[in-house]
Amino acid sequence: MTVTTIHRTRMAALVTAVLALVSGPSARTAARAQAGQVTQNPRAADPTAVTEGAAMFRTFCAACHGVGARGGTRGPDLTTGSWVHGGTDAAIFATIMRGVPGTEMPPAVLEEEEVWGLVACLRSLGASASPPVAGDRAAGERLFFGDAACSRCHMIGGRGGRLGPDLSRIGAARTPGVLAEAIRTPSAHLATGFETVSVVTRAGATVTGVKRNEDTFSLQVMDSAETLHFFLKENLKEVTYPRRSLMPDYPEARLDSTKLRDLVAYLASLRGSSGAASAIAATASGQVPYARLLAASREPQN
Ligand code: HEC
Ligand code: HEC
Repeated sequence: MTVTTIHRTRMAALVTAVLALVSGPSARTAARAQAGQVTQNPRAADPTAVTEGAAMFRTFCAACHGVGARGGTRGPDLTTGSWVHGGTDAAIFATIMRGVPGTEMPPAVLEEEEVWGLVACLRSLGASASPPVAGDRAAGERLFFGDAACSRCHMIGGRGGRLGPDLSRIGAARTPGVLAEAIRTPSAHLATGFETVSVVTRAGATVTGVKRNEDTFSLQVMDSAETLHFFLKENLKEVTYPRRSLMPDYPEARLDSTKLRDLVAYLASLRGSSGAASAIAATASGQVPYARLLAASREPQN
């Protein structure tokens, strides 16, 4: 061996070591899992994987996904056997490792061993397919954009208002039960990022709306007419957060149970795809929803 080849071999080893440090074991397995190289759960035959995974789930996941992964106010049911982001062991592993950018689903800060335990736990829950959502999806869509006027405040597929959250993929994130509750009694749980804020200026004016942006010095509020107000905090006398949604309640008298079922059937069907989720992530900072970008030619200025 000449001096140069030894040198090269050492260099190669060094580069590999540095790469390993940079990407870390978790990122590497996540990448391999995504690339289809690790397709089976390496802990599939490990009897402790399920119990460990269940404990982990209660600690890190149940707050959003609910007890037993049956869905909660901030996360979908994971026991239906249908997976928006892929249902192989490798795909579920990758989703948990990376989270779903642009949604509330965070990347796990866990060892890959632990994540495989979570995959084993989710698998053990089996696919107890929930009954299909009763209700007429098409009638729900007509209500949303028509008589029920939900689109006054919500956008779906680039159409509608901006006061409330974009609901284009809401079916991927909420169970039908949670959707029904969100419509009947919106104030029971306020969607993250759409808290109601009420300010009183030094001049005595009151503005109530959805908080859009806040930093140490300023606050932006969108009122019910979608007018954006920009305040310097030094000019405000009072800022309060009434735990009340700007969305009105829809009791039976206002929206009968047939209409509610139709609306829920429509919203539950809006599940989008993982591609859409990452595109949303890419545009989230600009506040322009992906669906609106897709339909850019329909924007009045274009
Ligand atoms: C802050 C709330 C939150 C936490 C905490 C959370 N999730 Fe999620 N999770 C979500 C939401 C919301 C989605 C739906 C993402 C979307 O819109 O596609 C989701 C989606 C998923 C999916 C994809 C489901 C599919 O249909 O493909 C899996 C798997 C998952 N979560 C597992 C977990 C596990 C395991 C944990 C704990 C380590 C966890 N989540 C923690 C909110 C959360
Ligand atoms: C006056 C504006 C307004 C109208 C009209 C309105 N909403 Fe909302 N909606 C909001 C706001 C603001 C939020 C966020 C605060 C909250 O969670 O209540 C919201 C939240 C929601 C959520 C929860 C989203 C999540 O991420 O969990 C759903 C579902 C929803 N609305 C559906 C509807 C439907 C269906 C209708 C029509 C029957 C409707 N909304 C009418 C303003 C409105």
